[in-house]
Amino acid sequence: MNEKEITIIAALDRNRGLGKNNELLWHIPEDLKRFKALTSNHCVIMGRKTFESLPFVLPKRTNIVISRNPEYSAPGAQVVPDLATALEVAKDDPQPFIIGGGQIYQLALEVAHRMELTWIDEVADADTYFPEFSSDVWKLTDTESYPNNDSRPLGFTFKTYKRHE
Ligand SMILES: NC(=O)c1ccc[n+]([C@@H]2O[C@H](COP(=O)([O-])OP(=O)(O)OC[C@H]3O[C@@H](n4cnc5c(N)ncnc54)[C@H](OP(=O)(O)O)[C@@H]3O)[C@@H](O)[C@H]2O)c1
Repeated sequence: MNEKEITIIAALDRNRGLGKNNELLWHIPEDLKRFKALTSNHCVIMGRKTFESLPFVLPKRTNIVISRNPEYSAPGAQVVPDLATALEVAKDDPQPFIIGGGQIYQLALEVAHRMELTWIDEVADADTYFPEFSSDVWKLTDTESYPNNDSRPLGFTFKTYKRHE
């Protein structure tokens, strides 16, 4: 691992769809479990809309919310005006996570070192998308597939990408 590994984590459909009407498109327990395992005890950085989509502040994590509104208040979370300030707040965390949504992933793609993407095997009806990214910049380093079956209605694949050296 680099000294610092800023990590994007997201679940997306075949068209990179992320959400609709400020909600997630799926509820996939195995993905949520992995999200919790990876992000617990780390900083989680998110946009104001994603924060408002959560039922509660994510426990056992330092919640950092990006908003241009200096008056914005997010009880239980720290509000910052931009991604650079969010990363400054997270400076002691060796692996801060960028947890969305679309606008913040777009900004983070420029500075992240690693991505943990869950590709859901369907095309959903989305209004928010993960940004396009290039295999010239992002090298696929790990793949774990979980096909659909009787107890798993939606198949998915965990893919880890690292920025090319
Ligand atoms: N599938 C997934 O893994 C996943 C993960 C997270 C979220 N989501 C989904 O994504 C959707 C939300 O994403 P979104 O793109 O609409 O919103 P978002 O990225 O969560 O938040 C957007 C807000 O962030 C602030 N912001 C954006 N750019 C900024 C900048 N350069 N400087 C300062 N503040 C900035 C603004 O807040 P102010 O308006 O307050 O200034 C903006 O309205 C929801 O549907 C959610 O469920 C999906």
